[in-house]
Amino acid sequence: MVIAIDGPSAAGKGTLARRLAAHFRLPHLDTGLLYRAVGLLAEKSGRPAGEVAAGLQSSDLADPELRTDRAGQAGSKVAALPEIRDKLLNLQRKFASQASGAVLDGRDIGTIICPDAPVKLFVTASTDARAERRYQELRERGVDTIKPRVLAEMAERDRRDSERAAAPLKAAPDAFLLDTSDMDADAAFAAALAFIERKGFRSSGP
Ligand code: DC
Repeated sequence: MVIAIDGPSAAGKGTLARRLAAHFRLPHLDTGLLYRAVGLLAEKSGRPAGEVAAGLQSSDLADPELRTDRAGQAGSKVAALPEIRDKLLNLQRKFASQASGAVLDGRDIGTIICPDAPVKLFVTASTDARAERRYQELRERGVDTIKPRVLAEMAERDRRDSERAAAPLKAAPDAFLLDTSDMDADAAFAAALAFIERKGFRSSGP
């Protein structure tokens, strides 16, 4: 079983992906980390992004700095380049084709990476709800910021991710739309699980 989860930043797709992966005992790939790692490594080393993407190692994905907004913006910029998307395609498809099945989350999983996934979720939330979540998350991490700045950076990244020509952020026609604006993580998980179980998939565990 492949579960494809797409949506804009801070909509709750990462948390949902991790919970579904644990529930169904599936490996999980946060594909945003790939773009973040390529963007940040290229920026810091001055090496061409294509070269970084071609040589990307799984150990490159463990850097805590990948969670920063600098890495998010750098990732969003390299993600607009078709050459980079091509270089990261096989790695993602290989992950999705494991015998166990897999959960992948990103922007183009249901449309480009796994168009045949039996379960597709498009997780979204209002810009305000997403900015508020990101703001709280940054404060909890001790980052000194203000909400208008978080909102502006999010709007810039949303625009770049949705308006680019190469694999723009959009829901697959057969995706289940989950608006988490008024949901907490438990409610989002329950709604996604109900959809997946209606499709006939159940966890084999106790
Ligand atoms: O989900 P995230 O914020 O970690 O993603 C970082 C950037 O990577 C995001 O702005 C867009 C890009 N991205 C993408 O284009 N395709 C994906 N499948 C995942 C992320």
